[in-house]
Amino acid sequence: VHATIPGMRCPVVVGRDEELAALAEIFGRAAAGGGACVVVTGEAGVGKTRLVTEAADGARERGQVVLAGRSAPTDRFSPLRPLGEALLDGLRDRRPPEDAILAPYLPALGTLVPHWAAGAAFPAVPAPPVVLAEAMLRVLRWLSPGCGAVLVLEDMHWADRETLAVLEYLADHVAAFPVALVLTARSDEPGTSGPGSALTRRAARLHLAPLADSEVAVMAAACLGVDTAPAAIMAGLRRDAGGLPLLVEDLIGVAGRPGPMRYAGIISGRLAGLDAAARGLVEATAVLGIEVDAGLLGQVSSLAPPAVADAVTAARASGLLTPVNGRLAFRHALIRELVLAQLDHRRRAGLCRRAAETLEAPGPGAISERLGELWIQGGEPRRAVAALRRAGRAARAAGAAAAAEALVRRGAGRGAARPGRRCPA
Ligand SMILES: Nc1ncnc2c1ncn2[C@@H]1O[C@H](COP(=O)(O)OP(=O)(O)OP(=O)(O)O)[C@@H](O)[C@H]1O
Ligand SMILES: [Mg+2]
Repeated sequence: VHATIPGMRCPVVVGRDEELAALAEIFGRAAAGGGACVVVTGEAGVGKTRLVTEAADGARERGQVVLAGRSAPTDRFSPLRPLGEALLDGLRDRRPPEDAILAPYLPALGTLVPHWAAGAAFPAVPAPPVVLAEAMLRVLRWLSPGCGAVLVLEDMHWADRETLAVLEYLADHVAAFPVALVLTARSDEPGTSGPGSALTRRAARLHLAPLADSEVAVMAAACLGVDTAPAAIMAGLRRDAGGLPLLVEDLIGVAGRPGPMRYAGIISGRLAGLDAAARGLVEATAVLGIEVDAGLLGQVSSLAPPAVADAVTAARASGLLTPVNGRLAFRHALIRELVLAQLDHRRRAGLCRRAAETLEAPGPGAISERLGELWIQGGEPRRAVAALRRAGRAARAAGAAAAAEALVRRGAGRGAARPGRRCPA
């Protein structure tokens, strides 16, 4: 979960017109008494929170009551947190009603809203999910006479079982109440199954794709406060942002303020969640390049084939690597940069040497321009020069005179190169 830094948001919401219209329609039907549940999915940073916040602002302007809560990675240890947060959000300044229809549900609500608990009932035994869910629907109806209510529950990929049990009932019965239930969930969060398949079957689904290039251009211009984003910035965003609004803001900042690189926090969290083998495989991929053969990765990270398969599975589940043309690649080019940046110098040099040795293994005559770069990074300038000269001679033999000259010149220049610079793309 990335913190919202005031002012560090793109000043306008770009694209998403269809999704905003779909949510407004669902909210309108809820106001008329026909509630519904909708699940908004998409990868981290694609704009789920921004979309739902924008839609909820519209609902508030139309007089609807909006209650919001979210899950966090620690929800396993604090059940029902998102529901408690949403209820406290809506009932903080309200006294329990003298309403016969709600009276039997006050003890259940009191387990999450202490100032609604009747006398000594708190702390009470947790209410059964069905009772708590019914109590929530009734209290939402009571809160919003005539206009309907919107209940936003974010980051349900982290929801605890108790919350999911309540959600199942809410989704089943919301149609009979003037309530729109909006859930968000990451589609790429490792180790989670989202808000539960039974639930998503019954709910409408809005999947957010990354922004198109033209939308990224509009967003970049808005963040920079100019009419048209410079071509060089756009080229960088096309290469590194993968259409993710979070990355657009992180990479170019907003209104002249540098971005906080919230994305780096997400990636280092995912790296930290990998076991040693999978982490080694991801690091080897970063050292070797953008798209890498899995067999080569196994050799560089010294893993036996079954262990490579497990590590590949874990790295894919983490959302860091993805298969492309039968090879493995980073989901976004920027992830590679971030993985390289958190490798300490000695480990990076060691991996580069190991990668170079593996590439040279077919024989001392192995030819690859990458080899020279890897030996440089591995702190072996002599072997780098030899590899680059070989590559130069091979290119000359192939008649590619211009390429050969460039490579030979590079080899000569690299003799004195400092080891430890960043690996080439
Ligand atoms: N359509 C958009 N137009 C402009 N800015 C956007 C858009 N969508 C998202 N953003 C900006 O990108 C950043 C990330 O968006 P947001 O927090 O909504 O992502 P998310 O999908 O909720 O991510 P997470 O899974 O981490 O919760 C935010 O600062 C937001 O303001
Ligand atoms: Mg979010």
